[in-house]
Amino acid sequence: MKAIDIRNKYLNYFKAHGHKVIPSAPLIPENDPSVLFTTAGMQPLVPYLLGEKHPEGTRLTDYQKCVRTNDIDEVGDNRHLTYFEMLGNWSLGDYFKDEAIAMSFEFLTKELGIPVEKLFVTCFAGDEDAPKDTVAAECWKKAGLPEDHIYFYGKNDNWWIAGEEGPCGPDTEMFYDTGKEPCSADCQPSCDCGKYVEIWNNVFMEYFKDKNGISKLKQKNVDTGLGVERMAMLLQGKETPYDTEIFAPIMQLLEEKAKNNNIQSRRIVAEHLRSSMMIICDGGRPSNMDRGYVLRRLIRRMTRHLNKLQINLDELPAIIDANIENLKEMYPDLEK
Ligand code: ALA
Repeated sequence: MKAIDIRNKYLNYFKAHGHKVIPSAPLIPENDPSVLFTTAGMQPLVPYLLGEKHPEGTRLTDYQKCVRTNDIDEVGDNRHLTYFEMLGNWSLGDYFKDEAIAMSFEFLTKELGIPVEKLFVTCFAGDEDAPKDTVAAECWKKAGLPEDHIYFYGKNDNWWIAGEEGPCGPDTEMFYDTGKEPCSADCQPSCDCGKYVEIWNNVFMEYFKDKNGISKLKQKNVDTGLGVERMAMLLQGKETPYDTEIFAPIMQLLEEKAKNNNIQSRRIVAEHLRSSMMIICDGGRPSNMDRGYVLRRLIRRMTRHLNKLQINLDELPAIIDANIENLKEMYPDLEK
């Protein structure tokens, strides 16, 4: 299943379940000076999570273009990306844990065909801010997940907030068991060894955090995020996103053009090229400040790795054209 098929299946599934499909917001936030880029699907929806009425109603779904550069130095390994696409469904004071989890379970097992044996989830263990999320765990069991596939963790793993302040809450994360050997007798979804890969997060946003502490929001929301690149990688049985159709043609082109074939450099070039093209497409321009500096840094790192591969910069226009060709089905704006 290609990434675009996963996106279409997702939007169609939630549309059939009463959600309005809304367009992705631009990567450059329109009314939020507090962030450089849109880093999660919920960001453009914050006013509605806080209680403002959304013109399209209380059940929404979309794909959201996201840029996160906090792990930029990790790009080149088998999973970190600075640009990714997040699929989301939102309840703005509409359904809550039961329906959200039932839909997640059905989408993963029926629409994507993931066997229940491969599916593990985590729920919030509870602390002074919110109780242990036995409700979410019960919903998973009711949906059809065996009890020994459910784990409980604390705030570091199972609580979502974007930054320091804002709407927040316990989450339940879904993991795909790659079938790799466990790294130890205690190997479990929180482990970083690569056996379990996080695929989707359902946040039960009923709290608000500010400098005075935690309070309850006016309404109970659901905010979810499913990473398209990761899902494509897993469903295609690939080891990295670079082996999927999203990157493979560019990885191959770089291999043909390179005199020195360092795979990490090829990944960095392919990843930063896509990321910087998506930012430029949404109006970003390189500069020496703020988001312009982030873009400049991406381009500079890409250039450094083109040099390492011994690919002449004269080749870049052809590589950009090939990338547009490869991505235009998912992002028609790139061609425009
Ligand atoms: N906001 C949640 C996340 O980005 C869904 O993981």
